[in-house]
Amino acid sequence: MDAAKAVHGNTDPAAFEPFTLRLRDGRDVLVREIAEGDKAGLLAAFNRLSADARYARFMAAMAQLPEAMLEQATHPSAEREFALVALATEGNAPGIVAGARYAAAPGSDTCEFAVTVSDDWHRLGLARRLLAVLVDVARRRGYRCMEGYVLSSNTAMRQLAHRLGFADVPCPDDATLRVVTLAL
Ligand SMILES: CC(C)(COP(=O)(O)OP(=O)(O)OC[C@H]1O[C@@H](n2cnc3c(N)ncnc32)[C@H](O)[C@@H]1OP(=O)(O)O)[C@@H](O)C(=O)NCCC(=O)NCCS
Repeated sequence: MDAAKAVHGNTDPAAFEPFTLRLRDGRDVLVREIAEGDKAGLLAAFNRLSADARYARFMAAMAQLPEAMLEQATHPSAEREFALVALATEGNAPGIVAGARYAAAPGSDTCEFAVTVSDDWHRLGLARRLLAVLVDVARRRGYRCMEGYVLSSNTAMRQLAHRLGFADVPCPDDATLRVVTLAL
């Protein structure tokens, strides 16, 4: 199912319905909204991430995922946040293999995204699809702009943003960062 259909399947134009995504290597993942019960799965996924991937995602050396972040991640605000996980549906270790979310400040029409894919699920089109869904949902929920803060050295994320039509500009406050922005 494509991103637009995933959002349109419900009579509420801003709703999202879970869908199964076939990846480039033939494996399937289930894409659904994050749930309260995902804490353990999210922690396991974080613990499997390489140090480089953690740094790229959180822009800090993260040996552990603090409980407060885990709590916040699994309880997105219905008004201002939207969070997806992708779960492997087969094999001996089914679990979360990717996550993507956006969040907005109260009253803002700009939302900020973040996306992470487990290292051994890279380059299969997963982040591209998750980000496309985020863009679609954010647009339907009335946001006018999506942005992301990306390490200047993060070629993968910058290329992906470029492929999805984001502009890529220097971050005014930090030369090590870029800001990728998309008008919705
Ligand atoms: C960035 C990241 C999310 C990309 O995830 P992914 O699922 O591997 O990306 P996709 O397979 O959807 O790639 C889509 C496109 O992005 C670009 N891309 C992805 N990885 C790339 C890489 N390592 N080098 C160059 N381009 C890359 C390509 O254009 C790719 O299309 P193609 O495979 O048809 O050439 C992943 O590398 C990751 O989780 N990194 C660590 C966390 C992070 O940096 N998050 C971003 C901060 S918000």
